[in-house]
Amino acid sequence: MSSVTLEHVTLWRRTQEEYSFDLKRRIFALMQRRYRKPHRRRVLDDVSVTVERGEKLGIIGPNGSGKSTLLKVICGILAPTSGRVEARGAIAPLIELGAGFDPDLPVADNVVLYGVLLGHSREEMEAKTPSILRFAELEEYRSMPVRVLSSGMAARLGFAIATDTNPDILILDEVLAVGDEAFRNKSRSRIESLWRDHVTVLVVSHDLQFIRDSCTSAIWLDGGRVRAAGSAAFVVNAYLGSVETSAVERLERAKATLR
Ligand SMILES: Nc1ncnc2c1ncn2[C@@H]1O[C@H](COP(=O)(O)OP(=O)(O)O)[C@@H](O)[C@H]1O
Ligand SMILES: [Mg+2]
Repeated sequence: MSSVTLEHVTLWRRTQEEYSFDLKRRIFALMQRRYRKPHRRRVLDDVSVTVERGEKLGIIGPNGSGKSTLLKVICGILAPTSGRVEARGAIAPLIELGAGFDPDLPVADNVVLYGVLLGHSREEMEAKTPSILRFAELEEYRSMPVRVLSSGMAARLGFAIATDTNPDILILDEVLAVGDEAFRNKSRSRIESLWRDHVTVLVVSHDLQFIRDSCTSAIWLDGGRVRAAGSAAFVVNAYLGSVETSAVERLERAKATLR
């Protein structure tokens, strides 16, 4: 049974330029006939992916290729402009760790809120708070506002909450390198235990070796399009081949200009 399905998903986003929307400037521009239509970019372009239950899907590609956007669409944070998205079960998203915290509330309250946000009950989260704080090594910060945590600590907290709540779908966006060496080892073994279960995992990582060794399948995104999809080994090798080729091409071109 499929766990995550995307059919012909396309997403247009406005570029940052339009966020600095200034009415007065726009009116002046109109008067001077300089009005340009707001710039929009196709961030995801006709993406179709099916992830089976228990599958471990790696998502690779250069910066800005749409990997994080794809995960946000799957979590329901962003709605596609066109196409269909379906995800079955409880999702634990680990994207931009700690982004969902309220900086002024105590750490313990944030644990409950974040868990409720992920679809768990308040009672369940209250019962789990001690073990979550223990795993995050933040027990003594229990009553302090999240604001006092370093970004590494907030990341540890986000990781501990998301992985302590028995998700059906675990979404990891470049979070395998959270915290110091000791915490990394601890989080790796927790991820490995989820890996063995029937949890569906979608993971974005620049660690291609990890993707090749730990994922069953992979997709390679490039400019919002799926450039390759298939077994993790096949996709990683195709990507590496292209990266190497383009480096060689660049070198050749640079040499040619010197001649
Ligand atoms: N908040 C945003 N508003 C508008 N465009 C965005 C926003 N976030 C990302 N983008 C654009 O979407 C594209 C894909 O970004 P992203 O999904 O973050 O790439 P990746 O995770 O692969 O590095 C980029 O061109 C980026 O500039
Ligand atoms: Mg990203």
